[in-house]
Amino acid sequence: MATKSKFQAIRGTRDLLPPDTALWHHVEETAHAVFGTFGFGEIRPPIFEPTELFARAVGGDTDIVSKEMYTFVVGDFDRLVAWREFVSNTNKIRDLDELDIYERSLSYLHRFAQESVKNGHLPDDPQIRAALATVQKTMSFAGTALNEGRRLNGLTDPDQLDREVEEAAIAAASIRPGEEISLRPEATASVCRAYIEHNMQQLPQPQKLYYIGPMFRRERPQKGRYRQFYQIGAEVLGGVDAPAIDAEVIEMVMTFFDRLKLPGVHLEINSIGHAADNCRRGYVALLKSELEKVKDKLGADSQRRIETNPLRVLDSKLEHEQPIIATLPKIADHLCDDCKTHYAAVKHELELRGVFYKENWRLVRGLDYYMRTTFEITAQGLGSQNAVCGGGRYDGLVELLGGPPTKGIGFAIGEDRLILSLQEAKDAAQAAGKQPPFIYVAWMGANAYATAVRATKDLRNAGIRVELPPTEQKFGKALERASKLGAQYALILGDNEVAEGTWTLKTLADGTQQKFTEPQLLEFLAKLK
Ligand code: HAM
Repeated sequence: MATKSKFQAIRGTRDLLPPDTALWHHVEETAHAVFGTFGFGEIRPPIFEPTELFARAVGGDTDIVSKEMYTFVVGDFDRLVAWREFVSNTNKIRDLDELDIYERSLSYLHRFAQESVKNGHLPDDPQIRAALATVQKTMSFAGTALNEGRRLNGLTDPDQLDREVEEAAIAAASIRPGEEISLRPEATASVCRAYIEHNMQQLPQPQKLYYIGPMFRRERPQKGRYRQFYQIGAEVLGGVDAPAIDAEVIEMVMTFFDRLKLPGVHLEINSIGHAADNCRRGYVALLKSELEKVKDKLGADSQRRIETNPLRVLDSKLEHEQPIIATLPKIADHLCDDCKTHYAAVKHELELRGVFYKENWRLVRGLDYYMRTTFEITAQGLGSQNAVCGGGRYDGLVELLGGPPTKGIGFAIGEDRLILSLQEAKDAAQAAGKQPPFIYVAWMGANAYATAVRATKDLRNAGIRVELPPTEQKFGKALERASKLGAQYALILGDNEVAEGTWTLKTLADGTQQKFTEPQLLEFLAKLK
């Protein structure tokens, strides 16, 4: 009986194993090739970034940032420990027996507060400065009170100390004595950060960049939804916001899917306008007031979203909310003239490129940075998690992150879902996973072995997969193992074959045999590749 392994991959993560990884390679190689023909270059940003980058770009109220990020605090370890101890001790202090702990915490805190301000370990913003001032005020009050209490064998006003300590505890808890970093939940924010950091606005515009790599979101795992998943994404940054750019970016993803023979590809587009009173802001206000009227009929999530982000109500998949949502005002009727013109032109440009699309006025996307064009692509065989790609325009994001005013548009493909869909459609997966010819070398005898080693090297150099058994096997055993491994051919090398200089190649599927000299064999195999 197999014993249960002690360690297992963490929930929502998984090992990608051969032979599946061959399909992953094929997909990624196709991305490099197709994106290259559209003039995109690869960028590899780091896997973690300051939490603030994602909070600012994706939005603090989004599910991704508020619930799903893997976040760590990093900083001077002693400082962190001291700070944590202080925060927890200030909560315990009401009991006067713990005067000692309190006093120790106070001295840590005193050092901490002074040093942090001096060496700039805490960001110099008004909130933090106010919190530190409160803590320092409490410290001096408490110091006096404690001295006095010790002298008198009891505090004169324990209630006031309580109140002061509580205020300080709240202030202390609001201070982050270190840097918060998060595993990236997406990469658009990183690409924009890199664009600014490397002054890419001084290079020819627009910059066209793509990336392939893991992302992390703490979502509930299910088919097609993982906590570590992979994205293939692309971003166009800088230059103009011509509708042809939106259309070309979409055309590129569709070309990529087409090249992979992804089945049942379906593109939906929308425009969510821009943040102005005569455009999206006006629409959202109207939507909100309409939603208030039907609030009682909506589920808890949608009710909450009326306050936090009314647009996201349109995203709801809840059955009973569908007829209600269908009656809500549509954004297309409330776009400003510029956004309306832009959207019409994007559709025209898509038609020019022969890209089929369907409009979906409810396509709002779950990240805050979008404006104007948004799109999503679904594919076959994925169940409820059927979005294989999402993207849109995000003019202004670079500026929001501290860079110059910059246009931007991009997308990200869920690679795990793309692979799942290809695997469901076996033909596509087979075509994708085409393997090089695979030969098993069945050798017997010392002379034959030396030739087998040399021949193996030559064949591998010619790009052929070769399995050379490390110890001698009887021919029968060797052929059995060759079939088990899935080899197409067995190269039979006994001392006779080596002496004659003609080798036998056995096709395992039908048992036929052909005789070749070594150059003939290489020529024959080259044709199979
Ligand atoms: P997103 O819609 O959050 O957009 O993600 C894009 C795609 O990543 C989804 O359509 C899905 O295929 C895949 N995906 C997301 N979460 C998971 C998960 N937990 N498991 C498996 N696959 C997942 C973005 O990330 C934007 N940064 C796209 C973008 C780039 N917009 C402009 N530029």
